[in-house]
Amino acid sequence: MSTAAKGLEGVIAADTELSFIDGEKGVLEYVGIAIDELARHSSFEETVFLLWNKRLPKKNELDEFRTLIRKNSEISDATVAQINALPKTAQPMHALRTMVSYLALEDSEPNSVKPDEVQRKALSILCKAPAIVTTFDRRRRGLERVSPDPDLSIAANFLYMLNGKKPTETMERAFDVCLILHADHGLNASTFTGRVIISTLSDIYSTITGAIGALRGPLHGGANEGVMTMLNEIPSVDDVEKYVLDKLKRKDKIMGFGHRVYKAYDPRATYLKTLAKQLASDTGNSDLYEKSHRVEEIMDREVGSKGIYPNVDFYSATTYHCIGLQLDLFTPMFALSRISGWTGHALEQLETNRLIRPGAEYNGPHGVSYTPIEKR
Ligand code: SDX
Repeated sequence: MSTAAKGLEGVIAADTELSFIDGEKGVLEYVGIAIDELARHSSFEETVFLLWNKRLPKKNELDEFRTLIRKNSEISDATVAQINALPKTAQPMHALRTMVSYLALEDSEPNSVKPDEVQRKALSILCKAPAIVTTFDRRRRGLERVSPDPDLSIAANFLYMLNGKKPTETMERAFDVCLILHADHGLNASTFTGRVIISTLSDIYSTITGAIGALRGPLHGGANEGVMTMLNEIPSVDDVEKYVLDKLKRKDKIMGFGHRVYKAYDPRATYLKTLAKQLASDTGNSDLYEKSHRVEEIMDREVGSKGIYPNVDFYSATTYHCIGLQLDLFTPMFALSRISGWTGHALEQLETNRLIRPGAEYNGPHGVSYTPIEKR
């Protein structure tokens, strides 16, 4: 009988002061501040500062941080050339992962794990990721790239570089809130991946590259694309019930539902649900919101008693669609935000580092004699 905790459920593998999650009560805080407070009052830039310094910035500090962000937002001609060399048919998550890895090649000292240098390199990655994704996306659509506008926030700049025009205040704010809500979440699979990588004293480029790879999976950040695919498959609100029941009967997972930690409503989903409803109404996508809501009603009736509720990925799908993002940019959006959390955890890991190296219980045979190849 194996004593391994399958999926490491319940295993405490790190100390952190970054995010606190009470899965029974549906509470999430970054450095002690409720996620709802941050979504209402903060900006993504300020949230990044919070996660990297474990305190809110003073006004001059935030101004300086924003200046640094502006200075780091443009990508080099060599990076543009590399993006242009990628197949147009590549998926944006693969493109982003490849290009973050590439950024290490432009750094003359990519390997330093001194905290201030890790932070400087991570800021460069965080700031350049929007230009990477939008340059890749516009090229595959046959459009010229748009350089970042130094007067815009990270959220507004992303939408500007994607669409070639500045977003409305409502869209900018909605997108900014999405970035705040996705920034950090305890020892989720991609953050754990990142902490394992940095614990070997490897570099921050490898850490973020590896974390992007983990985030892409449909059981993790890739679920937001799965949600949208599902909503597209359901012709109308009236078809939702049969669709969901059929899936549950086949023991298929409904994307955007369930969570290893939350057995109550994910507080990020609460916020995103309100945002999705508002944006859907503003953009003529109410039918999409209605379908989402109906999926939630059926899931609540069928499996709500098992603690399976919408997670962060469920209503973010409708939200991103209403913001105008193509389906395969949903997970890159998650990644752009989570670079902040991965970095916060890498810095934290380095503070008191010890190589992460758990054990495995060997269940195979012993004493097997070697059989020469011709006798097998
Ligand atoms: C994220 O960890 C984080 O913090 C992640 C995240 C972050 O911010 O970093 O919050 C972001 O990754 C959100 C999760 C996105 N993934 C999905 O939406 C994919 C669909 N959900 C699941 O497959 C599942 O709920 C997981 C992967 C999220 C959690 O998996 P667990 O903890 O391993 O749970 P499980 O698969 O063992 O399920 C337990 C039970 C099973 O039923 P029983 O066999 O006990 O009867 O719950 C059922 C499952 O069948 N179940 C679901 C379900 N999720 C769980 N049934 C139908 N649909 C679902 N979505």
